Amino acid sequence: MRIILFTGKGGVGKTTTASATALRLADRGVKTLLLSTDSAHSLGDALDTPLGNEPVEVVNGLWAAQIDTQRRFEAAWHEVQRFLLDLLSRSGVDPITAEELTVLPGVEEVLALLAVRDFAVAGNWDVLVVDCAPTAETLRLLALPEALGWYLQKVFPAHRRLARGMRPIAAMMGRGDVIPPDSLFDALLRLSDDLAAVRELLADPAVTSVRLVLTPESVVAAEARRTFTALALYGYAVDLVIANRVFPPGRDAFRAAWVRAQQAQLAELRESFAGLPVRELPYGAAEPVGVEALRGVADSLYGELPGRDPAAVPESVELMSVDAEGDQYVLRMWLPLVERAAVDAVRAGDDLVLTVAGHRRVLSLPSVLRRCEVVGGEFADRQLSVRFRPDPAQWPRGAAQ
Ligand SMILES: Nc1ncnc2c1ncn2[C@@H]1O[C@H](COP(=O)(O)OP(=O)(O)O)[C@@H](O)[C@H]1O
Ligand SMILES: [Mg+2]
Repeated sequence: MRIILFTGKGGVGKTTTASATALRLADRGVKTLLLSTDSAHSLGDALDTPLGNEPVEVVNGLWAAQIDTQRRFEAAWHEVQRFLLDLLSRSGVDPITAEELTVLPGVEEVLALLAVRDFAVAGNWDVLVVDCAPTAETLRLLALPEALGWYLQKVFPAHRRLARGMRPIAAMMGRGDVIPPDSLFDALLRLSDDLAAVRELLADPAVTSVRLVLTPESVVAAEARRTFTALALYGYAVDLVIANRVFPPGRDAFRAAWVRAQQAQLAELRESFAGLPVRELPYGAAEPVGVEALRGVADSLYGELPGRDPAAVPESVELMSVDAEGDQYVLRMWLPLVERAAVDAVRAGDDLVLTVAGHRRVLSLPSVLRRCEVVGGEFADRQLSVRFRPDPAQWPRGAAQ
């Protein structure tokens, strides 16, 4: 079982390359499901076939579906939303504004990933190819399981206890509506479990890898670099960079200028993504729409049939490790493309809070490191190292000897 996610800025060719990849897999005899979680659904347009919420077989071995994020949103968040709506309208907010306020940004995309997991565990397909939302959305939703997981472990139980304690008092004062009902806490817990399961699937490099799609232009490349770093920080494996819309050589001045600029960008990209394959896809004379045109795209990306296996598990790059060195432990995290100044690591109770280029990740420390104190940290060769020393005061009695 493999999951391949395609992400990148809007319009760079995610839908096109995801479709071409899925089609190539099917043509090689692999049972493949192509899914779109981008609410701007264009999978049906690229394949030139009407698609819906349930998978339909497009060609032999290739099924496709566009996940209806709105419907999923309503099912899972109904409870949470109803409470908030109720509360807001009782506080005098008009119903339309209340409705707007309770549509939480990013939740729809997360719920689309829950559907991806459902399809994965159903076990009907060998490979799932996912056409994701543009970069920013995808990143936020990939970070959510951990962010929420942390809240639910540390703060939520206290909130729930507090709510239980407050409810009779609020009811006595005629304001029982301001305390969240217990069912709301249950709904949140269920959602959190689902999210953790999705995270487990997507952060397993033996199952899931991410392909970054970009065009060789400075603005797009800069965003792709940031995405790459953020994915590494959150523990997701990137196995391929696709540079799309590469101008073939030409004589006129306009074309020559573009070719020069793009070649310079490509050289820089290969340097900054060193260790990752960067594959080029030429700018076609027409939009690659429909199965035949997409087969042409697959030829460019993976070679003529049989070509390379588009689902081959990449050589794993270890993103994080913990090693004993003398009487200390060193936690190492590989952060590609990050400048030294942009990294900050702070110990907070049982957690290590890492801030890298504006992204924050809370790492729950393995138990051996929880009883240690941080004695140093450095960033060199794209590697963040945090040094820990056992703190005798924190070891259970007798265990320190
Ligand atoms: N290499 C290419 N040559 C010509 N047109 C392309 C190429 N790649 C993508 N397109 C076209 O560009 C548009 C945007 O591509 P699409 O795959 O939908 O991008 P995204 O999903 O990232 O928004 C589509 O009309 C698509 O057919
Ligand atoms: Mg698209």
